[in-house]
Amino acid sequence: MTLVSSTTLLRDARDGGYCIGAFNVHTLEMLQAVVEAAEELRSPLIIQSTVGTVKHLGADYIAAAAKTAARRSSVPIALHLDHCSDFGIIMQCIRAGYTSVMIDASHEPFERNVEATSKVVEAAAAVGVNVEAELGRVGGVEDDIVVDERDALLADPDECAAFVERTGVHTLAPAIGTAHGIYKGDPKIDFDRIGRIAAKVEIPLVLHGGSGIPDAQVRRAVSLGMSKMNVATELRIVFSDAIKSVFAEHPDENDPRKYMVPAKQALKAVAMEKIHLCGSTGKA
Ligand code: 13P
Repeated sequence: MTLVSSTTLLRDARDGGYCIGAFNVHTLEMLQAVVEAAEELRSPLIIQSTVGTVKHLGADYIAAAAKTAARRSSVPIALHLDHCSDFGIIMQCIRAGYTSVMIDASHEPFERNVEATSKVVEAAAAVGVNVEAELGRVGGVEDDIVVDERDALLADPDECAAFVERTGVHTLAPAIGTAHGIYKGDPKIDFDRIGRIAAKVEIPLVLHGGSGIPDAQVRRAVSLGMSKMNVATELRIVFSDAIKSVFAEHPDENDPRKYMVPAKQALKAVAMEKIHLCGSTGKA
């Protein structure tokens, strides 16, 4: 298979009442681990990279690896660019082969967010690429985007409906109380707000800040209409912790083909848990 646009995957998820895990990866091994998890569970998959990872590895390298994964795989895979406010980088990623992009102008006033999102939707439509946008502001830390808890704003359901209508965006990430990074206490998710947004907006909704949300809360958010769940921090932590354990036991180990193996397995196990939680097992 080739990489697919996330539009159909997420529409099917919204219609079917399940969610698709969108996993941020930073290395080839991390990418392979999430692909193996999705294949083993026969789940559709969204692989994501942040702008930081695009700068670190190159959009072309990431797209080449994802295309190879898709070609070898029997489950549908989309490649998504996470949180990007730079039109140029979005175009570079589309050119490299990304099948889904996020234009994040949530830090701008509503009208400017509409303008920036519409511009990307128009450009992406010509090549069948999915566009995600954000309304409100998700708190926490994602790459070099830092949103203080006091500046995090929840999305307004009427504004969400107007935004979707005016921009033609394919998927929407409304801020509903989750945050990027690991939660200090329990996340304060506004479930009522998810329900009110889902009642007004037909397109698939995206749950950001998927790391550390208690399982029951993820299930509830999915049942209310969340169709994509982004997970980044938890994956980085298990991957890194497994490597640290290898070096704690074998300080002289110097073969990445050995010390990456437990890291890949640990990440795959977490990705499999998230896929089950999202309800996308067997949906490929
Ligand atoms: P976490 O790092 O909290 O999993 O959030 C990921 C995310 O929402 C990426 O956009």
